[in-house]
This record gives sequence, C-alpha cells and structure tokens, in this order.
Amino acid sequence: MRFDDITEAIGNTPLVRIDPAVHGLRNIDLYAKLELLNPFGSVKDRAAWSMVRPLLDGAVERGDTVVELSSGNTAKALALIAGMYGLSFKSVTNRMRVPEIKDLLLLLGAEIDELPGRSECLDPSDTDDPLTRMHVLLQEEGNGYVHTDQYFNSLNADAHLTGTGPEIIKDLDGVAPDYFIACVGTAGSSTGVARALRQHNPDTRVIGLVAAKSDFIPGIRTIDEVHEVGLFEPGVYDAIETISADEAIDGLLTLVRRCGTLAGPTGGGAFQGAVRFLRTVDPALTSRRTAVFIVCDRVESYLSYLRERRPELFGRPPRPHSVASVSAGDLTSVSSLTVDAARVLAERALVIDLRSPYAYQALHIDGSINIVDEVFADLLHAGLPFSRRQPVLLVCPVGEKSATYAALLTRMGHPDVHSLDGGVIAWRDAGLPLVRD
Ligand SMILES: Cc1ncc(COP(=O)(O)O)c(C=O)c1O
Repeated sequence: MRFDDITEAIGNTPLVRIDPAVHGLRNIDLYAKLELLNPFGSVKDRAAWSMVRPLLDGAVERGDTVVELSSGNTAKALALIAGMYGLSFKSVTNRMRVPEIKDLLLLLGAEIDELPGRSECLDPSDTDDPLTRMHVLLQEEGNGYVHTDQYFNSLNADAHLTGTGPEIIKDLDGVAPDYFIACVGTAGSSTGVARALRQHNPDTRVIGLVAAKSDFIPGIRTIDEVHEVGLFEPGVYDAIETISADEAIDGLLTLVRRCGTLAGPTGGGAFQGAVRFLRTVDPALTSRRTAVFIVCDRVESYLSYLRERRPELFGRPPRPHSVASVSAGDLTSVSSLTVDAARVLAERALVIDLRSPYAYQALHIDGSINIVDEVFADLLHAGLPFSRRQPVLLVCPVGEKSATYAALLTRMGHPDVHSLDGGVIAWRDAGLPLVRD
C-alpha cells in the first residue's frame, strides 16, 4: 500500500468476525467494522474529509480557519487535515469532557472555544443558546471561517453511503447484512450505511443505539439530544435502543480482552447493544444470518473516563458515593421541584449550579454557587460537603443531572435535597430572573 497523501488511507477498514464463543449467538455471524483503524483514529475521518474537502481551495485562498462544533473525533480529524493545508482549526464546544482529547487537540494545534451552551449540538429554535448564535455568525459571508457543520451537512452521511456501507457489502461477498447496529452521534454513519445496505437489501434491519438518559458515553447522544440533530431521521431505524455507560464499558472490556480489538466506549456499546438485540431474535432463526456493528474509535483516549467509572480495573479501590451507582430506583424518590416551588426554596437553600463555568458565568440564578458536575462528583466521594441541616437545591441545564445528584445526596443521608425540574431552561422559560456577574 503506497499513498501520496494520508487522506488516501481513509476508509477500506477491515470487517472482522467476532468469535461465536465470545458472543454466544448460535445462528448469527457477527462482524465488527473496524473504523478505529482509519488514519486519524475513528469513523469521523470519513465524514471530516468528505465535508472539508470541497471547502479547502477557498479556505486556503482566503486563509480561513476551519471550524466545527465538536469536542471529539471530528475535531481531531479536522485539526489534522487543516494542519496539512496550512490552515488553522477551531473547535467550538460547550464543554470538553474528555481530558485526553482536549490535550490531544491542543497538541495538534487546535484552538478550543468553550462557550456556554446547553448541548454541544445546537438547537436552532433556541436563539438564546450561544452555540446557536455562533452558528448564525458562521453563516455570515466573509467571517474568516469555513464551517463543516457536521450535525446538518449531508456530506457527513454521504461519506458512509459511498464508503462504509459499500465496503461492508463487498466484504460480505456482495450481500448486505441482515442486521446493522450503530451508535448515533451526528447520525451520519448510521444513516449513510443504512441507506447503502438497504439499496442492496431493503429488509436489512437497522438498530440505532443512544446513551441512556443522563448517562455520558463520549461521542454519542441521549435519546432527547438526538432529536436536535439535523441529520437524524427516525425512519432510518427499525429500533432505537439505549445503552448505559456500564454496558458500553462491559462491551469494551470484552472487545479488548477477548477479541484483540482496542475499542473505545462506543465500540463497546455497539457490541453490547448488538448482542443484547440479536439474542432476542437468535433462538427463533431457522437459517444463518449476518450482523455488523461499528467500532468507532480506540480505547486509549478514554483512560480517565474508565478510571473514574471502574477504578478497580486500574488497581484502585472502588470509590464510595459514586454518581454512576445511582439506579432508576434511586431516581424515583427524588424531590423534583417546579420552578415556582424552587423559587421559594431558593430564598433559604444552598443553590448549587452544576453547569460549566462558562454557562454559569453567562447567566445563573442569583445567589447560586457553581460547582461543575465532575468536581461535585469528586467532592462527594469524600462525603457530604455541607451540613445536613442546610436545604440544597441542585440546578443543571434541563434537570436530569441535578436529579441524579439529588438521588445520590438523598442516599448519602441528606434529608432536604431537591432538583430543579426542567433546569435553568425551565427557569428561564418561566421568565424568572437570571443574573450575569
Ligand atoms: C466515539 C464515537 N462513536 C460514535 C460516534 C457516532 O458517529 P456519528 O456521528 O456518525 O453518528 C461518534 C461521533 O462523533 C464518535 O466520536
């Protein structure tokens, strides 16, 4: 294999069979599409190249900066491509949550703009969201940027329609698989591959995997967030299922320890989600079937993510009072207050805002203090950081994360802890005051 340019090495990734002794399915051959073997390390290499390629000549001529709303693999691929063309790259995000990726982006020369915002993926109907404002700014002519726009750009899905999907069919001797299972971030890979497979076999069943509510799996969205994505079309999927971070890590461990595959959390989630789904159809099958899932990227960037959730894997004792241990049962006993009730309580309670410092600095409830959720999680390992006599109101963007922490604090013995239902967004929508320092 000889190339003039590293971008020529994007695609043509291996399709590798998973040993049936590992997955335990009797009538289904399960294959992993190893997108982690792309040159910049992920499935997003294809999308990044497909989206930026048509913009490069103009950008080079004008000296524009390439910009994308991404805190992960798309940013990484774009930073590398921009560097090859002598261009700068700027990653705009509301929060870089994976420290290894942030460090890597800085090493690659990326500029990182962390803005306040509810979600990295913008909501075009929310004109107060700074990311939306950024998006509007980027659409103005002559702004010095070229924007690849991964959540809305059809070239993202096209990269998989013309590349990933046909490669899978070719490697299965011209036959599309019966089942295709993929995690959904921008929805580009699942949508593009699904279209390609169905052109060959309209009966291919497509299963989209999203993170369970309030669960963070880097690279993919929760069921609520996915509806904000411009490329997401519910009709593409025969089923959308959730996976928990715990399941994703279990799957990752199986792939790294038993399959020789250095998969990251979404690869693990796709494997675990695939096996869980296929187990429901496997016993009734009377002929052999084929299924494919995508391993999106590599494990090395997620060591701190894994250390936080599974310290025992790294020879460390399990951490007490872990937010990851909050169960659906714990959540049922949470006191979630309406905006009106929360407003009354806020007069005498300690109000803790769990959002990023950027979001807090932009607008917050008067008198609240900001403890970003990761820092709060760390504090709680050591026990309650405030008196049990002090009522506490927890606040986050939409009321999900605050409910999880309220459940944890209740379990830790705090008798008077509450979550703001609907979060800062509900407070703002009710017209209640927010202040800026
Ligand atoms: C690690 C990882 N897994 C899965 C995905 C989902 O891919 P897509 O954006 O094509 O839906 C992404 C997207 O950024 C990702 O970074």
